[in-house]
Amino acid sequence: MLDVAAIDLFYGASRCLRGVSMSAQPGKVTAVLGRNGVGKSSLLRAIMGLERVKAGTITWEGRDVTSLGPAERARAGIGYVPQGREIFPFLTVQENLETALAAAPRGSSVDSEVFDLFPILRQFLRRRGGDLSGGQQQQLAIARALCARPRLLILDEPTEGIQPNVIKDIAKVIRHLARGRNMAVVLVEQYYDFARDLADTITVMVRGEVAMAGPTDELDEPAVRRLLTV
Ligand SMILES: Nc1ncnc2c1ncn2[C@@H]1O[C@H](COP(=O)(O)OP(=O)(O)OP(=O)(O)O)[C@@H](O)[C@H]1O
Ligand SMILES: [Mg+2]
Repeated sequence: MLDVAAIDLFYGASRCLRGVSMSAQPGKVTAVLGRNGVGKSSLLRAIMGLERVKAGTITWEGRDVTSLGPAERARAGIGYVPQGREIFPFLTVQENLETALAAAPRGSSVDSEVFDLFPILRQFLRRRGGDLSGGQQQQLAIARALCARPRLLILDEPTEGIQPNVIKDIAKVIRHLARGRNMAVVLVEQYYDFARDLADTITVMVRGEVAMAGPTDELDEPAVRRLLTV
């Protein structure tokens, strides 16, 4: 289980996260919702160790990882798909997938199961990442994270700029990873409908703080929508 307890995060003097707490369980999908700029990506970056927190603790599988760097957290089983995907445009699909193996146990090879999840990637193994469509790049970014065999997968806006049919495919894969492979999944979303259909629990952020949190089917939907509309 992931347990984020009362973390504060600053950029210079400006406070970006204020006492944020949340948790994520194996086999469950946890969605973090909020308008632009409320600190969703900062929260995920803090979980991955890409930003240092000033207060609070992050515990993963019973171990305090608050002071670990991103490489150590990757080795501890945390996988991260950044907002905007950040695949390597001049590397092939195969090479992009191989970059994930640095964090995997020695001697590992690309997890062939990712091709069952995303068949299009097998077809385009030799194509350059930059030549894939946006939806295909998102699938590649998720597949690359999976190659390190994470037990916690964090995804920053996996649906951003992607067509509805590909969004459906990605939702199916995320559901399978949680339910079928018992992974803990944390995903950031702008769109409530996607989160509601997929997530077991939802955390809504407003200006660096948690405004509302709970099991998806117990949340007051109109109240959540009000917090998300500009
Ligand atoms: N590296 C940084 N240095 C300074 N300020 C930053 C940095 N990264 C983010 N911020 C600021 O922190 C706040 C939260 O940013 P963050 O990217 O976490 O928001 P977000 O909820 O992910 O937004 P979006 O929905 O647009 O992706 C914003 O005001 C942003 O300008
Ligand atoms: Mg963001």
